[in-house]
Amino acid sequence: MKIEIYSKNKKVEVKVIPVYENDDKKIIFFDKKLETKKIVSQINLFNFKAKDKEILFFNLENDKYLILGVKKDYTLEDLRRSYSVAFDFLKSKDIKNILFEVPKENDLEISSIVESLDLTDYSFDKYISKKKDDEKIDMNCYLNVSNKYKKLILDTLVVCKNVKFARNLVNENSNIITPKKLEILAKDFAKKNRLKIKILDEKLIVKEKLGLLWAVGKGSEFKPRLIILEYLGDLNSTEKIALVGKGITFDTGGINLKPSGFLEDMKSDMAGAAAVFGTFISAVELGLKKNLILVIPTAENAISSQSYKPGDVFIGYNGKSVEIGNTDAEGRLILSDSLSYLQKNYKPTKIIDVATLTGACLIALGPSLIAMLGNDEQMKKQIFKSGENTFERVWELPIYDEHRDLIKSNIADVKNIGSSRFGGTITAAAFLENFIQKGIKWTHLDIAGAARSDKKEFYVSQFGTGRGVRLLFDWLKNN
Ligand code: BES
Ligand code: ZN
Ligand code: ZN
Repeated sequence: MKIEIYSKNKKVEVKVIPVYENDDKKIIFFDKKLETKKIVSQINLFNFKAKDKEILFFNLENDKYLILGVKKDYTLEDLRRSYSVAFDFLKSKDIKNILFEVPKENDLEISSIVESLDLTDYSFDKYISKKKDDEKIDMNCYLNVSNKYKKLILDTLVVCKNVKFARNLVNENSNIITPKKLEILAKDFAKKNRLKIKILDEKLIVKEKLGLLWAVGKGSEFKPRLIILEYLGDLNSTEKIALVGKGITFDTGGINLKPSGFLEDMKSDMAGAAAVFGTFISAVELGLKKNLILVIPTAENAISSQSYKPGDVFIGYNGKSVEIGNTDAEGRLILSDSLSYLQKNYKPTKIIDVATLTGACLIALGPSLIAMLGNDEQMKKQIFKSGENTFERVWELPIYDEHRDLIKSNIADVKNIGSSRFGGTITAAAFLENFIQKGIKWTHLDIAGAARSDKKEFYVSQFGTGRGVRLLFDWLKNN
C-alpha cells in the first residue's frame, strides 16, 4: 500500500469527505469548499446523519464518494478510528485509488490519519494457505494536503512500519522467534546501520555470571542471549537512554507450569523486546538526536531436567541473591540481570523497561492499558503525556515500603514473588527496583495487557498490537 500527497495526475476512484453533525443536527462539511448541492442531496436522500464513524457510499455521475462522519470536537483518536472505518470499508470493496480529504491541515491531524490508514492495513496471514492473492489489491491512498507535509508523512510511515515489525515478531511462532533469531535480527540491523553491538551468548552469560538470566534460560534447547545495541545520535549530549525489553520467546511457566488456557498466548511474552526494538529502529532510521542503548535479554522459559527450580537461590550479575518462589515469575529475573549489566558497563542516565510482566496488570487495569511505575516524576509525566498523544495509554501505580516488604526472603536478599498474590504488578516492579542504582532515572512499563488484543479494534490488529512503539517514539521525539 502507498500513502502519498495527492496531485492532479493521480487516478482516483473514490473521494472520502469528512463531515460532522453540529448541535442543531445539521451536517457540516469540515471543508466548506467540498459541499456541493448534488452531494448534499445524496446525503439527504439516504438520511445520513454524520454520526461519529458513520459512512455513506454512493455514486454520483462518474464519481464515487464516501462521506465520513467525524465528531465535531474530535480527538486525534476519534480521527484515527473514523479513518480506519473508512479504510476498511473501501478495502472490502476492492477499491484501489482513494483520495482522502482531511478535516484540518496540521501536523498532528495528518500524522494521525496516516497512522490510522497504514496500521489498519495489516494482517498476519502467512499461515493461511488459501490466500486470495490475486484478489489482494495494492491500494493507493492520496491525502489532499499541502506538499509541505511530505516529510511528516514519510516519517510517520517509518514508525508504522516498525509497529508492524513488532506485531510480526509477536504473532510469529515461538519456534521461529527464538533468542538466536532475535540475535540475528539485531546483528543484521547493526551491520546495516553501522552500530555497535554486543551479544552475550550462553558461554558469555555463564562466564560473566549473569546467574538470573542463565537460570531462566538454561532449561531450553534455545539458549538465552543478552543483546545490546548502541546508537549515538547526539554526541553533544551526556544523556544516554536505555530501552530494555523482556524477550521471553515462550513462557511455559517452567516447573511451575502454566495450566491450559494460560499457555496459548505465551509466544507473545517477547512483546516488550519487540516494542523497544521497533522504537530503536525508528529512532535510528529517522536519525533522532538521542543517544540510545537497546537492551534485549532473551530466553525461553521451558521445562526440562535442566530447568531452574522453585526454592533454589541464584546470584545475579550485581551479586544480589534471589530466592525462586515461582519459576513463572521469570521476566523480572532476566530483566534484573540485564539492568545490572547495562548500568555497570554502559552507564545510562535514564532507563525505560518494557515487559509483559504480570497477569495482575490485566486484573488491575484491564486489557489495553499500560501500567507505569518508576522513580522519576518528570519522566513519568512525560510518558503519561505520550500515552495520551498516541492513545497507547499508561496509568501510574505506586511502589511503597509495604510492597517492598512483600518480596523479602528468609534465605536470600530478595524473592521473585510476593508473599501474597495481591498487588502483583507492584511487587514485580519493587523487585526490579532492587537492581536500579541510585541516581538513575527509571520507568517500568508493564504491557501484559496492551501487547495483545483479542480482536481487531479499528487500526489496532488482533493478537500482536505493536503497542509501545508509538508511545516510546513519541516520548523520545518530544523530550
Ligand atoms: N508472562 C507472564 C505474565 C503475563 C500473563 C503476560 C498473562 C501476559 C498475559 C509472567 O511471566 C508471569 O507468568 N507472571 C506471573 C507472576 C506470578 C507467578 C508471581 C503471573 O502474573 O501470574
Ligand atoms: Zn511467567
Ligand atoms: Zn513471562
